[in-house]
Amino acid sequence: MKPFRVLFIALAFAGLAVPIQAKDMVVKEPPESLSKYYPPQSKQPKWIQQMHKMSTHFGGVFVNLKEKDFENVDKHANKLVEEYKKTSEMVPEWEDYFDVKAAEEFAAAAKTHDIAKAGKASGGLGRTCGKCHAENEVSVWAKFHWPSFHKIKVTDPISEKEIEFDEYMGSISSSFKGVTVNFSEGQYGRAAKALKIFKSRFMELKSTCSKCHAMQDVKRFYVGSDADTAFAGMSRELNADKPNPGKFWKNIGLLGKTGCKHCHLVHRTNSFIQEMWEKPE
Ligand code: HEC
Ligand code: HEC
Ligand code: HEC
Repeated sequence: MKPFRVLFIALAFAGLAVPIQAKDMVVKEPPESLSKYYPPQSKQPKWIQQMHKMSTHFGGVFVNLKEKDFENVDKHANKLVEEYKKTSEMVPEWEDYFDVKAAEEFAAAAKTHDIAKAGKASGGLGRTCGKCHAENEVSVWAKFHWPSFHKIKVTDPISEKEIEFDEYMGSISSSFKGVTVNFSEGQYGRAAKALKIFKSRFMELKSTCSKCHAMQDVKRFYVGSDADTAFAGMSRELNADKPNPGKFWKNIGLLGKTGCKHCHLVHRTNSFIQEMWEKPE
């Protein structure tokens, strides 16, 4: 194999493109002892910092092999073993993912300064990284990177009561049905009344964005101009002498897709996962 290709493959390993299989993909709650390496328990995200150190030294070996800067090859190889050992002691439940011997063998191969040998020896070490990532990265993101909707409350503009976010979704959903059910029955007066309630509940969702987003700009989505257009279109039909069902349902579809579905696709996946973990066993 050409050295360039070996370097590419080895960096791909260091960059986590490790072959894993479908059965490796699981979403299990991360062990409790990991929490001390993440906010709020730790000021710094220490686990991630540790990952960056290993990744830098792993990649650093190959960058320097290619430059024939052998002094730095040896430095990075030694530091990689050191950081890998250190990481292996951080989370007791995860100890078995580590193979210190594989790290030492890789370092020894790197120190021969033969890039083909180093490339070959990187595979065993790289697989230990890849296996843990496949089994834990998604859960770690869901637990430590995604804020929870379960702590958010919304003041219902109709009842003026403050309720949990998911309960609020339930009331949005039933006011939506108040509109569609009455419209299909030809009860346009009732549908128009229900639409006012539904619109005010839906637009109230704008007050929740700032609980997680610093940028006001995100409100262009879901609760922005597509929603305004859809609501205006529905009102127009309901106020017409003879409502046009085609136009009405088209706007219902627009709101359902760009209002409800698009927000769910972005925000609800992690809520599903978090909810499972919050359930008592
Ligand atoms: C802010 C983005 C957002 C918008 C816009 C939104 N939803 Fe939701 N919805 C969520 C999230 C997040 C959850 C999960 C909440 C949880 O896990 O507590 C959810 C949950 C739900 C649920 C399940 C409630 C439950 O009891 O678990 C229903 C039903 C629902 N949404 C309907 C709708 C409908 C209908 C619309 C549009 C008219 C809509 N949502 C618009 C974010 C949104
Ligand atoms: C015992 C489990 C485990 C092992 C072994 C492991 N990692 Fe990780 N790694 C993780 C988890 C969990 C994350 C996700 C962290 C996060 O995003 O909060 C991660 C993320 C990363 C990231 C991305 C960091 C970022 O900023 O998003 C890099 C790079 C990385 N690991 C490199 C490595 C390398 C290189 C090795 C092997 C030498 C390795 N990891 C071994 C668990 C592991
Ligand atoms: C519980 C926290 C939470 C709430 C409430 C929330 N979001 Fe988000 N949203 C996130 C997270 C986390 C992401 C991922 C990227 C990020 O952090 O911006 C995201 C991503 C997005 C994205 C993708 C683009 C981007 O900026 O990352 C949009 C658009 C968005 N949200 C809009 C909204 C709108 C509009 C509302 C209010 C109706 C809302 N969000 C309410 C947590 C939240």
